[in-house]
Amino acid sequence: MRQPIIAGNWKMNGSRKSIADLMSGLKNGVAEVGDVEMVVSPPSIYIAEVAALSSGTSIALSAQDLSDATSGPYTGEIAGSMLKDFGCKYVIVGHSERRNVRGEGDDLIADKFKAAQDAGLTPILCIGELLEERESGVTEEVCARQIDAVINKYGTSVLSNSVVAYEPVWAIGTGKTATPEQAQKVHAFIRDHIAKKDQTVADGLRIQYGGSMNAGNAADLLSQPDIDGGLIGGASLKAEDFLAIGKAAGNL
Ligand code: PGA
Repeated sequence: MRQPIIAGNWKMNGSRKSIADLMSGLKNGVAEVGDVEMVVSPPSIYIAEVAALSSGTSIALSAQDLSDATSGPYTGEIAGSMLKDFGCKYVIVGHSERRNVRGEGDDLIADKFKAAQDAGLTPILCIGELLEERESGVTEEVCARQIDAVINKYGTSVLSNSVVAYEPVWAIGTGKTATPEQAQKVHAFIRDHIAKKDQTVADGLRIQYGGSMNAGNAADLLSQPDIDGGLIGGASLKAEDFLAIGKAAGNL
């Protein structure tokens, strides 16, 4: 069985005060969430603080991005080993805001995926189509291309130590969620695409849905057979909402 994974992507939000409040809310309620892995991804400058605030709880820590390099003259970059040093277990790679706003390509994202694993982190690989790609019927091709960028360079087995987040770009931060059926169709496609190369890896892989998941729609999405969790932006900034999503995953 795949343990559900609910990860909060805080993006570039928060302050020391708001983060302390959020973490205190999560600490108070996380024990009531069932057998679900709960993860938070603060902006990197707050990782040390969140590591301290989450110590002694089951909440795991993730970063939002990392460098593809290990160390050296890369001003402004953060290496996977540094994230590991501060207690991160996961790191998001290839979020659409890095692909489409910062212009990161498939090849760089594949290298970041590998750099994360080399540092002992588990990458959360984000994939997903733009609205125009969905409208022109190429959703599956886009998702396959984004997964194949990793597989073709590093092999299928690397996916066994990863999480994939399917995030249709048109659903991110828009309040426009994919329907459970739309999401399930793509999740099943992704699993099947990987199964053609390695059935065991595909069966074990946790595939999260992301894109305006909230306390109200989480249960319907999470009850789909190939949806194994969520990557949550806006709704992860409120302890109550994030915990409600965790409970929805735990109650299935
Ligand atoms: P959202 O963001 O939940 O605010 O749509 C999801 C994400 O970008 O990971």
